[in-house]
Amino acid sequence: MHLTSKPRHSSEPAVPVAASTDPWPGPLQASAEAPAQPLLKLEGVSMTFGGLRAVNDVSLSLRQGELVGLIGPNGAGKTTVFNMITGHYKPTRGRIWFAGQEITGLAPNRITALGIARTFQNIRLFKGMTVLENVLVAHHVRLQASLWSALFRLPAYTREEEAMRQQAMELLREVGLEGFADAEASSLPYGLQRRLEIARALATRPRLLLLDEPAAGMNPEETRDLTAFIGRIRERFGLTILLIEHDMKLVMGICERIHVLDHGVTIAEGSPEAIRTHPRVIEAYLGEDEEA
Ligand SMILES: Nc1ncnc2c1ncn2[C@@H]1O[C@H](COP(=O)(O)OP(=O)(O)OP(=O)(O)O)[C@@H](O)[C@H]1O
Ligand SMILES: [Mg+2]
Repeated sequence: MHLTSKPRHSSEPAVPVAASTDPWPGPLQASAEAPAQPLLKLEGVSMTFGGLRAVNDVSLSLRQGELVGLIGPNGAGKTTVFNMITGHYKPTRGRIWFAGQEITGLAPNRITALGIARTFQNIRLFKGMTVLENVLVAHHVRLQASLWSALFRLPAYTREEEAMRQQAMELLREVGLEGFADAEASSLPYGLQRRLEIARALATRPRLLLLDEPAAGMNPEETRDLTAFIGRIRERFGLTILLIEHDMKLVMGICERIHVLDHGVTIAEGSPEAIRTHPRVIEAYLGEDEEA
């Protein structure tokens, strides 16, 4: 079961910004919350565009450290769910909590600062910039030094800038892109551009990473590399991951649980084995094949 995607919406929001300027901290600590409390919780969330119910009464939760798949045919509402979690859309109904705090309707930069990062369905890199600069952009917005010290390149600014450069280089090493630091982002092979986009999301130090179709447009070898890469960064950075993906092999291979949407509603939730044979899931995907 491999499904292709239709053209993207132009309304996808801007890239995230960094949450902190501290030295790169190494693996994040396990959550201080009780393990029983979900890291992310959506309760009865809906999103209506004009007359269209893109997402209808969806509830879902992720525990710290889980890797959960969010799947469904084209137009099922998956990206809209991401846009509500990241604050780019305010749900028409329902509530969202992250790490025990309600985040419904908060501005995207506040949600990024709380520890949620994302990548986009269509890659968003600054194509004219180098690989290193792309990661630095995610850091730069939070430079603590004042505008004056930046304008006159006073020592405080230069020190901070240098610390960020080092952090960004360390992150590039972690993701295996250090050899490309000075290459133009657009010159990277497609699979590495995807990896750079993930690195940029990691620069904001998330606890929760939302990946929107990271394997889209990849060949089987790139997809295999990406699958291993997601597993590695998950361990290394102590991440909880929500993954939208049409490549069923990838989804079934790495997700512990899967949540299935169709026409904005939840039609199934469960283990990869349960989802693979779920009659409503099979029906939804067969319906899509017929429409195609
Ligand atoms: N900003 C918007 N304005 C109007 N309609 C929208 C908007 N964003 C999404 N939609 C509509 O909401 C529905 C769900 O879209 P969404 O992008 O969330 O689906 P998806 O599951 O991510 O699909 P795909 O697999 O194609 O990426 C679609 O009918 C889409 O056209
Ligand atoms: Mg989508």
